[in-house]
Amino acid sequence: MTTYKLLLLPGDGIGPEVMGEAERIVAWMNGRGLASIETETDLVGGCAHDAHGQAISNATMDRALAADAVMLGAVGGPKWDGVPYDQRPEAGLLRLRKDLELFANLRPAICYTALADASSLKRDRVDGLDIMIVRELTGGVYFGEPKTISDIGNGQKRAIDTQVYETYEIERIATVAFDLARERKRLVHSAEKRNVMKTGVLWNEVVTKIHKERYGDVTLHHILADNCAMQLVRAPKQFDVIVTDNLFGDMLSDEAAMLTGSLGMLPSASLGAADERGHRHALYEPVHGSAPDIAGQGVANPIATIASLAMCLRYSFFLGETADRIDAAIARVLDQGLRTADIKQDGCRTVGTRAMGEAIVAALDGGS
Ligand code: IPM
Ligand code: MG
Repeated sequence: MTTYKLLLLPGDGIGPEVMGEAERIVAWMNGRGLASIETETDLVGGCAHDAHGQAISNATMDRALAADAVMLGAVGGPKWDGVPYDQRPEAGLLRLRKDLELFANLRPAICYTALADASSLKRDRVDGLDIMIVRELTGGVYFGEPKTISDIGNGQKRAIDTQVYETYEIERIATVAFDLARERKRLVHSAEKRNVMKTGVLWNEVVTKIHKERYGDVTLHHILADNCAMQLVRAPKQFDVIVTDNLFGDMLSDEAAMLTGSLGMLPSASLGAADERGHRHALYEPVHGSAPDIAGQGVANPIATIASLAMCLRYSFFLGETADRIDAAIARVLDQGLRTADIKQDGCRTVGTRAMGEAIVAALDGGS
C-alpha cells in the first residue's frame, strides 16, 4: 500500500477543533488498514504570524511542497485586524495557492435531504441540489499587477487592482470543468462579464474554443456572472458545473454554499496540474472560515473538514471507495438526526464537534 504524506495546517479559530475530527478519521483509516497516511502538523495564518511574523514560513512552504496533499482548517480573526496587509492571515492561504500553483478550486454545493429545511430557500428548490463550482484560483484580480494604493495629492488616493487572464489559464480551468462534467450531468455554465470586461471577452472565447474542439458531448451555456448569481437563488437545480474566474468564483461559491443550509457542511479541493503519474499538488479545506465567535467552545461543525478529507482521498490518494464510505457515513449521521449547532433542528439532537466526529466514525464502522 502506498504511504501518503499529509500536511495538516489547522490554522486559527475553529480550525484546530475541526481538524481534530479529520485526524480522527485518518486514525480510523490507518487503524483499519484502509490507508497508510502519515501526518505532520504546522502553522498557517494568524498563529503563524504570532510565531514567526509571517502568515506562513518558508519552512512550512517547503513541507507543503514536499507533501502529497495539504489540509487546511481556517485562517484569520479579529485579533489580527491590525497587522500589515502582507502579513495578514489570509496571505498564508494565498501564498499556498500561488506557490503550489493550485489553479483549480472545486467547490461542491450539495444539499443533503436531511438538511433541506435548513436552507433559506424553499425545500423543493434545494432538495437534492448538487452543483460543482469550478473557480480559477491563481489568477485574476487576486494576483494581477499593479495592485497598489498611491497618493495623488489634494488628500486623494488612488487604489488599483488588476484583473488579468491569459489564454492558458482559461484553457486549463475550462478543461478541468469539462472533464468533471463528463463524470456528472454533462452540463457546464461558464460565468463571466463579457459585457463590461475584456477578461470576460477572452474567457468566453477560450471556453467556446475548448468546448468546440474537445467536448462536443458536454452542453455549454455562457452566462453573465450577475445573472448566474440571480439564477442560483431562483432555480439552483438548473446548474451542474459552473466554471468562473477567481473573484466571481469567490462570491458565487459562498452563495451556492448557503443554498445548502450551512457553510459548515461544504468541502473544497484546490488542485494543481497532474504530472505523468496523475499526482498533483493539492490543498483541501472547508469553505467556512475561522468563526472566531465560537472558537474553542467545541461546538463547530466538523463535517466540511471531514468531507474535505474525503475529497483528498478521492483526488490525491486514489481511495475513491473509502471517500464514498465517508460521504455515506456523513449522510447516515444526518439521517439519524444528529446536528451541530449551526444546523440544529427541532426534533434533532444537537451535539458538539467531537461527538459529531465520533458519530461519523461509528457510522463508518457500522456500514461497510
Ligand atoms: C475563500 C476565502 C478567501 C478568498 C479569503 C480568506 C482570502 O474567502 O477561500 O473563498 O477570498 O479566496
Ligand atoms: Mg470566499
